[in-house]
Amino acid sequence: MKKQENKTIGMAEHRKIAVIPTIDVVVFPHMVVPLLVLDTKIIAGIQQAMKEDKKVLMLATKTTSNNYEEEGEPISIDDLYHVGTVGEIIRLMELSDGGVKVLIQGVQKAIVHRITPTDELLNATIELIAPFEEDCNNEKREYYTQQICTLISKLPPSNTLFSPDFATIVSQIEHPQKMSDFVLSHLNLPAHQAQELLEKHLITEVLDAILLHLERIISSSEVEEKIRTSTRESINKSQREYYLREQLRAIQKELGDDSDSDIEDFEQKGASLAFSDEARTEFNRQISRLKKTSGDSLEATVMRNHVEWLLSMPWGIVTNDNNDITVAKKVLDEGHFGLNEIKERILDYLSVKYLKDDCSSPILCLAGPPGVGKTSLGKSIAQAMGRSFARIAVGGVHDEAEVRGHRRTYVGALPGRFVQAIKKAGTLNPVLLIDEIDKIGSSQKGDPSAALLEALDPEQNKAFYDNYLGVHFDFSKVLFITTANDLSTIPGPLRDRMEVIQLAGYTKEEKMEIARRHLIPGIIVDSGLSKTDISFSKDIIEELITGYTREAGVRGLSKLFQKLCAKYARTYIETKKGISFTKKTVAEHLGPRRVIDSLRVGVHKVGITNGLAWTPFGGEVMQMEALLMPGTGKLILTGQLGDVMKESARAAVSYARSHAHEFGIDSKMFVEYDLHIHVPAGAIPKDGPSAGITLLSSIFSVYTGRAINSEFAMTGELNLQGNVLPIGGVKEKLLAAKQHGLTRVIFPKQNEKDVKGIDTLPDGIKILFVDNVKEVLSYVLLPK
Ligand SMILES: Nc1ncnc2c1ncn2[C@@H]1O[C@H](COP(=O)(O)OP(=O)(O)O)[C@@H](O)[C@H]1O
Ligand SMILES: [Mg+2]
Repeated sequence: MKKQENKTIGMAEHRKIAVIPTIDVVVFPHMVVPLLVLDTKIIAGIQQAMKEDKKVLMLATKTTSNNYEEEGEPISIDDLYHVGTVGEIIRLMELSDGGVKVLIQGVQKAIVHRITPTDELLNATIELIAPFEEDCNNEKREYYTQQICTLISKLPPSNTLFSPDFATIVSQIEHPQKMSDFVLSHLNLPAHQAQELLEKHLITEVLDAILLHLERIISSSEVEEKIRTSTRESINKSQREYYLREQLRAIQKELGDDSDSDIEDFEQKGASLAFSDEARTEFNRQISRLKKTSGDSLEATVMRNHVEWLLSMPWGIVTNDNNDITVAKKVLDEGHFGLNEIKERILDYLSVKYLKDDCSSPILCLAGPPGVGKTSLGKSIAQAMGRSFARIAVGGVHDEAEVRGHRRTYVGALPGRFVQAIKKAGTLNPVLLIDEIDKIGSSQKGDPSAALLEALDPEQNKAFYDNYLGVHFDFSKVLFITTANDLSTIPGPLRDRMEVIQLAGYTKEEKMEIARRHLIPGIIVDSGLSKTDISFSKDIIEELITGYTREAGVRGLSKLFQKLCAKYARTYIETKKGISFTKKTVAEHLGPRRVIDSLRVGVHKVGITNGLAWTPFGGEVMQMEALLMPGTGKLILTGQLGDVMKESARAAVSYARSHAHEFGIDSKMFVEYDLHIHVPAGAIPKDGPSAGITLLSSIFSVYTGRAINSEFAMTGELNLQGNVLPIGGVKEKLLAAKQHGLTRVIFPKQNEKDVKGIDTLPDGIKILFVDNVKEVLSYVLLPK
């Protein structure tokens, strides 16, 4: 580039100058442009300028070259912008056809005041525009240089606007105006945009516009690049897939298993099934779609799985029920020890079902603590009826789709648990055991219990729609049985449908029988041993029950037998000798006894009473504590008591105050002391009214200063008249008292019939029935 900086023309000078209109290009100062001129008027102007100071004015046209199709069409004066660049002709070449080629370098911007065309010349009166004021200091310049250079370096290599060393050149230009002009001359801006920049007054405005433009170029070339590579990739990928697929087909042909033949298998199988009409239609539809789909595509896999599910349902398969109740009784007795009342109720239920088989009978719910045989009873019922059996575990199911099925749109979709269970059972009328129905959850993915209700409801389950199967399925022949630990957490509408049979838990004697007759023989076989090898004496079984477990059911006990059988097997393999189990060897293998009896008996204390409580895991002994301290008569309740329990505590306090004189309590104590009632094991929420008499005993104990007899445990609701009202969970509570070594238990008189209904009462416990709380106090309050 030739040095031209100082060749500017004097400021504010009005002068006449020849005009060269430029089409499609806006010339900036410092820019060098070659121009081809054909118009005689313009050529004359150029020649005139050559004789003087070689200066001409280049003015861009508003219209683009596309609009100057016809050659020789003169450019109208109105079509010229009024700001242009004065340039110096560097070289001039005359062409043979009369035209000229000129090389011009821009020098300075100028504004046109008037254009004066004559017949021979196109001249204009102009005023030069001073170079930009220096609004761009060094720092700013550096900033712009840096920005421009980084933007240019971001351009993808496919971009042809800039040469590789462009950035280097730019960084060496010191004058911001020159820099901007230099960059502009490379940008290839459309003429109207370039003109806009030419007319700007501040250099920073121009530089900002340049940055903006560069950014646009970069983002559009990035997009281009992306499209280019992605089409390239997709072409590669589909070619690859096609190639692999062809190979696969060839291999399959060689092996003689092509997918058409398994469609034929499907059709054959389908023809022999007793589909419902709807299922038949769906099946045919899927088969015809499958035929049209390429055998190894994803859709085909999804369809094939669906067809397989349709084929695997037990369409039309119904077993005949065993209607003989004596046989049913025999099966139940063989499977389970004891549980007489429960078996009776099951047999009653079955009898009704046999006589009136219209499905409207309620659903059985076996409720009780873990390990008391609910699940296994369900199996026995199926056996007793001669039906197939499947279990649906709904504990922890949060997603409605687990019940209703997933939509087939995604890979790995499955039918809901009910359809799965029917497939497993293999008949349309199995016994389906919905296990742990109280543990069903709900979440943002819908409410599974609503779907469950629909499946269980005889009004609706004739046509239960599973999303995966895509057809309605008849569940009305199914006998549903449910199990639960805790009835209170079952959603109300579900609970209303159910006939609850409560299983309480076993006494030590019952556990011994269950262990001897059912648990041990099964576990011995499961451990690969035989009855002749190993035996457990009565003493050992009792030791395991009382010393190593504290549970309502027998699950922990059966784990202990498993452990001991495994120890036996190992010893037998290592030494070819068995183990004879004694208290000592058991302690060697299982560790010392974990349960220490008679924990609570012994010291009689003021303010502490043994209460009996029911929990989903069986009965519990819960101590209620009361304490007096100087104060103003406040009542403090702690230990996570529920509302009902808090109310019974208040009722007990009121009763105590109104009967204070009968027990020689000074009524001033109720205003001079605060009463604190606490139930330990604070992390467990406690509720229910059955602690009424227990709370009252503790309260009377602190106000009278008389200790409570710790051999007693009690349960009973209290009203303000001092009557003791009946409670639930009698057997569980009795068992808990027994386990804790308590020898005397107080129950409400109205529960006497429940106690009489228990098959085998735990031994060594005296049961006292009471009507009024004064009887309770006379039993438990020890003399001072
Ligand atoms: N009365 C009983 N007679 C025979 N076996 C029993 C009895 N009660 C429980 N069992 C056995 O105890 C184990 C645990 O019972 P399970 O049905 O799993 O209890 P749950 O479902 O109530 O938690 C099973 O092996 C079961 O056969
Ligand atoms: Mg169970």
